[in-house]
Amino acid sequence: MWDAVTVKSVDLTSRQGFLESLRKGLVCAELGVNYGRFSAMILDLSSPKELHLVDSWRVYPHCKRIQETWDEARYAVWRRFIDVPEVTIHTKTTHEAAECFEENHFDWIYIDADHTEEGVTSDLKDYAKLVKPNGLILLDDYIDKPHRDGYPRGVIAAVESFLGRAPGYQMVGMTDEVGCPKCLLWRRE
Ligand SMILES: C[S@@+](CC[C@H](N)C(=O)[O-])C[C@H]1O[C@@H](n2cnc3c(N)ncnc32)[C@H](O)[C@@H]1O
Repeated sequence: MWDAVTVKSVDLTSRQGFLESLRKGLVCAELGVNYGRFSAMILDLSSPKELHLVDSWRVYPHCKRIQETWDEARYAVWRRFIDVPEVTIHTKTTHEAAECFEENHFDWIYIDADHTEEGVTSDLKDYAKLVKPNGLILLDDYIDKPHRDGYPRGVIAAVESFLGRAPGYQMVGMTDEVGCPKCLLWRRE
């Protein structure tokens, strides 16, 4: 069972509940970190053995922020985590960072970077094989509503076509968070 490997009994009321149900000492990554709000929760609530934080912190298509704001976010993450031995900060695109890891490296990852269909499809393609059998992928914003910056979110479409192509994975749940549910995929082989 998927919950035998990484979780005792999974709480999907929220992403916080998910973290609280994880075993301690897992190897994980957050793709898309921003100011590191969720990164701090991962660290505090799940005590990972390795936490890889991946973010380019650069202006990218669809994004209305100026570079100074990304620099501020990157600096905040650097200040908060640079001395934490379990944390590695990867200032790279998610695609570039995927090259840093061997297959089956992660117990679980959180995908919360480029929410377009193209972006999520690319992250699933790059990272699915980097998650161990029985590992988990949590994805942000499993909804159709456009992003507040105006671009269409493509998480549902990307997950559906990924599952169609990757029979080793299946969707095992969704968090209850109104407006921003996360969906949970399990690598069953
Ligand atoms: C929604 S924010 C992440 C929020 C964070 N996970 C949290 O819960 O606090 C999305 C982040 O993804 C990053 N991002 C978007 N596309 C990316 C890409 N292709 N590679 C790396 N980072 C990317 C952005 O720089 C931004 O910081």
